Amino acid sequence: MQRRRFIQICSTAAAGCAALDLSTLTLPAWAADVPDVPQPPVLLTDAQGAPLKASQLGTREAYVFSYPYASTPAFLIRLQGAAAPAQLSAEGQSYDWPGGVGPDKTLVAYTAICAHQLSYPEKDSSVISYDPKATQVSGKPGMIVCCAHQSVYDPSEGAKVMSGPAPHPLAAIILQHDPQADTLTATGVIGHPMFEHFFKLYRLQLIHTYGAAHFQATAPTKAAAVPLSQYSAYVAHC
Ligand code: FES
Repeated sequence: MQRRRFIQICSTAAAGCAALDLSTLTLPAWAADVPDVPQPPVLLTDAQGAPLKASQLGTREAYVFSYPYASTPAFLIRLQGAAAPAQLSAEGQSYDWPGGVGPDKTLVAYTAICAHQLSYPEKDSSVISYDPKATQVSGKPGMIVCCAHQSVYDPSEGAKVMSGPAPHPLAAIILQHDPQADTLTATGVIGHPMFEHFFKLYRLQLIHTYGAAHFQATAPTKAAAVPLSQYSAYVAHC
């Protein structure tokens, strides 16, 4: 289980990883803590279930969809400019973030679970959001801000931490854009997603919402991406 997670990270980083004898690898401490994260292909849809058209996405706020579990929210964001690939690190482990997708390379996605103390968008409220304009805390346009303790992430650079107590970037969701159909499919997670910790911390809450048999279920093959202002009744901005 632990070995598979490490392979996923390596497969997105230097090609040299493929030559490693995986049976001899010693996992770094943080890799040993993460669960065997599923990587299902999930087609993003609108709220009615029709395939989401990437060209119709707005830039005013993030869209929320479930990935890679039905209970783990992720942000889909259309940036105001292209996002180039970047190399990042989490807990001393480096990985390559592939940058934005789509014709203008502006589409990115990240887990919406804060890397500090795992705040996430809920139906009644969200303290984490993307704002195309500068806020009091971010001081820069186009940042993801968690108002719980004021962590700021830059989604144009792999959601690296710009300020605040978050110890590492938000885990990135890999997107594929179909240029013919103009659709988006989530195909994987890279970085340090902390899902196992999330399930432990919010276990009772998630069971209440999704049921004991389903709160750790893998996301279905289609997931609706809904504007955050519709997903959460109240969105904090700071
Ligand atoms: S939980 Fe997000 S900054 Fe603390």
